[in-house]
Amino acid sequence: MSQPEESKRLLLVAACALVDGDGRVLIAQRPEGKQLAGMWEFPGGKVEPGETPEETVVRELREELAIETKVACLAPLTFASHAYESFNLLMPLFVCRRYWGIPQAQEGQALKWVRPNKLRDYPMPPADEPLIPFLIDLL
Ligand code: C5P
Repeated sequence: MSQPEESKRLLLVAACALVDGDGRVLIAQRPEGKQLAGMWEFPGGKVEPGETPEETVVRELREELAIETKVACLAPLTFASHAYESFNLLMPLFVCRRYWGIPQAQEGQALKWVRPNKLRDYPMPPADEPLIPFLIDLL
């Protein structure tokens, strides 16, 4: 049985569409053992207390992909919002075209560079999927 809406916690996650010189976007496959394992998502993670969502993206890109970027290199695009079974997710999506290094999976996740109009070929968490049209329009 699902929880009543008003008792669900709000989870703030920040995500990033990393864009390469050809206008492709990086997606990462959630590894086994995690919730939604096997689904392809925009890199990111939970906003820790005291962090801004932009700082979260900078930290998560470093931790998950071993690349560096700066808050000034992140452009807000839109928000995802989804009512999961046990929490409500609010997820700002930033676009990053300027970063240093070559993304390398640090947590065993598969990575793929995908054209925005091909993103629908990859199963995504229900929060991420509605973001695709925004990326198609932008890129
Ligand atoms: O990545 P992490 O497991 O910390 O994220 C917490 C939850 O946020 C996930 O279990 C998933 O439900 C949701 N999430 C999402 N899309 C993402 C990242 C996280 O729906 N890109």
